[in-house]
Parts: sequence; C-alpha cells; structure tokens
Amino acid sequence: MKDMDDQPPRTLPIQSATFTNPINAEIRRAAATGIYDIRGGGAKRKVPHFDDLLFLGASVSRYPLEGYRERCDTSVTLGTRFAKKPIELDIPITIAGMSFGALSGPAKEALGRGASAAGTSTTTGDGGMTPEERGHSSKLVYQYLPSRYGMNPNDLRKADAIEIVVGQGAKPGGGGMLLGQKISDRVAEMRTLPKGIDQRSACRHPDWTGPDDLEIKILELREITGWQVPIYVKVGATRPYYDTALAVKAGADVVVMDGMQGGTAATQDVFIEHVGLPTLSCIRPAVQALQDLGVHREVQLVISGGIRTGADAAKALALGADAVAIGTAALVALGDNDPKWEAEYQKLGTTTGAYDDWHEVKTRRA
Ligand SMILES: Cc1cc2nc3c(=O)[nH]c(=O)nc-3n(C[C@H](O)[C@H](O)[C@H](O)COP(=O)(O)O)c2cc1C
Repeated sequence: MKDMDDQPPRTLPIQSATFTNPINAEIRRAAATGIYDIRGGGAKRKVPHFDDLLFLGASVSRYPLEGYRERCDTSVTLGTRFAKKPIELDIPITIAGMSFGALSGPAKEALGRGASAAGTSTTTGDGGMTPEERGHSSKLVYQYLPSRYGMNPNDLRKADAIEIVVGQGAKPGGGGMLLGQKISDRVAEMRTLPKGIDQRSACRHPDWTGPDDLEIKILELREITGWQVPIYVKVGATRPYYDTALAVKAGADVVVMDGMQGGTAATQDVFIEHVGLPTLSCIRPAVQALQDLGVHREVQLVISGGIRTGADAAKALALGADAVAIGTAALVALGDNDPKWEAEYQKLGTTTGAYDDWHEVKTRRA
C-alpha cells in the first residue's frame, strides 16, 4: 500500500461548483467568528425579475397612442372596498414602510416631503410614527407590526391608512433585528427598549395565530379608526394565492405583496437568500386569487420587492397590480451608499457599499 506521505501536499483550498471560493470564505469566516451573517438589503442571488419581461410595442395590429396628446392617467385609489376615506394617489408608486431606527428622523422626513411632492403616500415602520414624518407626509400609512415597537393607539387615529404587517419579502415568517448601535435615546424611548442593546423583533403577532384572528384584528382596527381609513395587509411572498385569498376573506382593503428581493434593515442572510418567492412570480397568483374571489380592482394589490424603475412599475401594473411600493430605490435616491459620501461613512466607521454586511462586522467588534 502506498504510504500517505507519498501523496502530494494539498496546498490548494477545495474549490468546486458547490464549494466555490466565496462559499469557502464564508465557512472560514463563520468558523473563525462563530457569528452568522446578519445584514440589510434584499436577496443578492439572481432570480427571475422584471428585466426578464418585455413590453410589446404598437405597430400594425395595435394603434399607438400619442403620449403628449392623449389622456394618460396615472392616479390610483387605494382602499375602495370598505374605508370611508380611501387614499387617492397621483402616481401608482408609494414609499414602503421603513422603520424609524433603521432610518433617521431626517430621512423619514425627507421621504415624507418627497412623497407629498410626488402626490403619493409614505409609510411608517417598526418603531412608530415620528411627528416630523407625520407633519411632512400628506398621506401617511401607519404600520401595525408583530413587534408592536412604537405602537401608539393615538397615532393609529392620525394615519391615513393602516398596514397590518404579517411579514416581509426579505424574511417571511422571520423577525428582524435592530442593532444596539442604532438604538439611540429617542429610538429607545419610542420602542420602550434599553439603549444600545441589539433587539430582535417578533416574527408573528402576539395575539393571533391565523386568518380568523386576522379578521378580528382588522375589525378592532376599523373600530378604533371609525371605519374611516383603509386597512392594508402586507405579506412576504410565500404562498401568494392563498395568502391573498385569506387576507381578502379577513376583510383587507388592500393586499401588499412583498417579494424576496425586497429590502430589509437587518435579518439573517440565510433567511434573505433562501426563504420566499421572487417578486415577479407572485404577482399572477395574487391577481388570480383576487379574480377568483371577484374582487380584482375592488381590493387593490400593491407589489414591492426590487422595483427600481418606471419600467419595473409598469410591468407590475401590466401583470395586474394596482400600485407598487419602493424601499431601497427611495434610499438610493436619498444618497444611501453614494460614493460621494464616503468621508461621512468613514466617520461612522464604515464605508459605502458595505451596508449589506456592516452589521456583522459591528457585532463582531462589540
Ligand atoms: C432600511 C429598511 C427598513 C425596512 N423596515 C421595514 C419595516 O419597518 N416594516 C416593514 O414592513 N418593512 C420594512 N422594510 C421593507 C420595505 O417595507 C419593503 O417591503 C421593501 O423595502 C421593498 O423592497 P425594495 O427595497 O426592493 O423596494 C424595510 C426595508 C428597508 C430597506
């Protein structure tokens, strides 16, 4: 038998289609630190997306409309089913819920100002409603979340709509994390949390376990708000047909379907990359559920997760959605990760382009 010492030394790391260099590097990092990756942003893997769809233009069989002469109405009304005061938007693009804590007060205010100037709505998030945000948003949707962080019944009554968050596309069925570094005095006070300590947010509402309880919750919220404002139900895309149907049965005015490319402030990378469905794949099943129940266009469908451009929005609408919501694109527009702010990022101990894993780095240092 050949002696093992005769074998050539294995100097090269294992590399294959399964164990790629990045995978191996991540295994080494995890082994060295004992920390799994918690990051912001949405799925980085390539999944079917709006770029994979094209519009058919007009030629002989379809007569083109003259964009500058013929009427083109971009307005949309959300919440026509039960609410006494539905929300009227000038454009079918809304700002998605992003938490106060992940975003600063001025960032939330800026989104409110921008949304109001564009004639659309913005949305609160985990951590509650800030006066600046309410003051500068002509139409503000108030999120009612599993964590209840920052939940205030008085704020419910100040909102133009309420969005019950069942889940998010980046982490359907999972809660998020707010890192201690982000828990300032103000964030701590609004969330009733200790300052500076990492906080997990709950993965499900504490007082319900299924669609029957969702129905009760919707009724409670309608009573608190006197049936005035629309009630949205936001779900992370997993079983879009049944989740849409059950939200409708529970009494939702609007269903918000958030696909797996959707951004998050922070959660486990494994959840972001391996749980949920691509945004594109859940639009048709959701529309089908609305059609089967005879409520397509009566219960509006808002789609989010990876919407970057007007073309993406138009494709979502062409597939049957009534509106779209944007998170990451709005943050990029605000200057998030813009290299021109590198010096400012450096002062915070980070760098542009690294927001998707700086959480892990900070956690390791702590
Ligand atoms: C920084 C950040 C914070 C977020 N916070 C919340 C939140 O508090 N509640 C929520 O329902 N979704 C939250 N989301 C998800 C957005 O509401 C939305 O579903 C998602 O950003 C849409 O995908 P997009 O980022 O590709 O546009 C957050 C997203 C980001 C990027």
